[in-house]
Amino acid sequence: MRRTLSERFKTYGNVFDHFTVRTVIELSSKLDFDAYSLSPLFIGKESNVFLCERKDDLMVLKLYRLESCDFNRMYDYIRCDPRFTSLKRQRRKVIFAWAQREYRNLHKAREGGVRVPTPYAFLNNVLAMEMVGDEDPASKVKDNPPADMGAFFRLVVEQMKLLHKAGLVHGDLSPFNILNHRDAPVLIDFSQATPTDAPNSMELLTRDVRNVCKYFVKSGVPADQEQVKAEIIAMGKKPL
Ligand SMILES: Nc1ncnc2c1ncn2[C@@H]1O[C@H](COP(=O)(O)OP(=O)(O)OP(=O)(O)O)[C@@H](O)[C@H]1O
Ligand SMILES: [Mg+2]
Repeated sequence: MRRTLSERFKTYGNVFDHFTVRTVIELSSKLDFDAYSLSPLFIGKESNVFLCERKDDLMVLKLYRLESCDFNRMYDYIRCDPRFTSLKRQRRKVIFAWAQREYRNLHKAREGGVRVPTPYAFLNNVLAMEMVGDEDPASKVKDNPPADMGAFFRLVVEQMKLLHKAGLVHGDLSPFNILNHRDAPVLIDFSQATPTDAPNSMELLTRDVRNVCKYFVKSGVPADQEQVKAEIIAMGKKPL
C-alpha cells in the first residue's frame, strides 16, 4: 500500500502538520505535480525546501514551517513593508503573508528582468517555483565559486541594479542566496525583499551591498561598497 504523504515527510525527518500536508496536496492538483515525488533539498531557518517532479521537469517547493519559526521576527520585518501594513501579529497570518510576499517579489523581480526562479504559485505557507539548475539544482556561489570572480561580481551588481529599478531591495543578499548557474548569478530567497519606498529599504540595501562586497573582496575582487551602492541608487527606483 502507498504510504501517506505525512509518512513520506516523516521518513525524511521532516514532520509536517496535517494542514501543511493538505496544502501540498491541494497545490499539487492545481499545478499538476506529483506530491509523492518530493525529496528534501535543504532545511532553512523558517522553511524546508524540496524538489518535486512536475511533468518532465523538476520544481522546488518551499514549505514555511507553521511551528518552529520565529514569526515575531518575521512580523517585525514584514510590517515595514507598505504592502502589508494592516497585517495582524498572528502566527498563521504572518507566515502566509511571508510566503505570499516571496511569490510577489519573485514576480516583480522577474518582470524587471532580474534572474530569479520563476514563481509558479503559492497557497497558505507553501510556495512552488522553478528549479534553477540543469539535471541537479545549481549550487550556491559560496559552495561553487565561478572561475572568473571579477566577471561574476559585475553580473551580481547588474542584478542588484535591475532589482532596484524594479522597486525592490533583496534584504538578505549574500553568497548563500546567490546561485551559480553556468557561471552567472541567479538570486533566490525573496521573502525579505522590500519595496524601495519602505522606511527600512536603505538600511537593507546597505547591508546587502556590504555582504556582497565583503565576499568578493575576500576572493580578491576590488569591490567598493560606497561605489556599488551609489551605482545601484543611480538606477532610480520605480514605486511598487
Ligand atoms: N529555485 C531553486 N532552485 C534551486 N535551488 C534552490 C531553489 N530555491 C532554493 N534552493 C536551495 O534551497 C536552499 C534554501 O532556499 P532559500 O534560500 O530560499 O531558503 P532559506 O534560506 O531556508 O530561507 P529562509 O532563510 O527564509 O528560511 C538554497 O540555498 C538553495 O540551495
Ligand atoms: Mg537562503
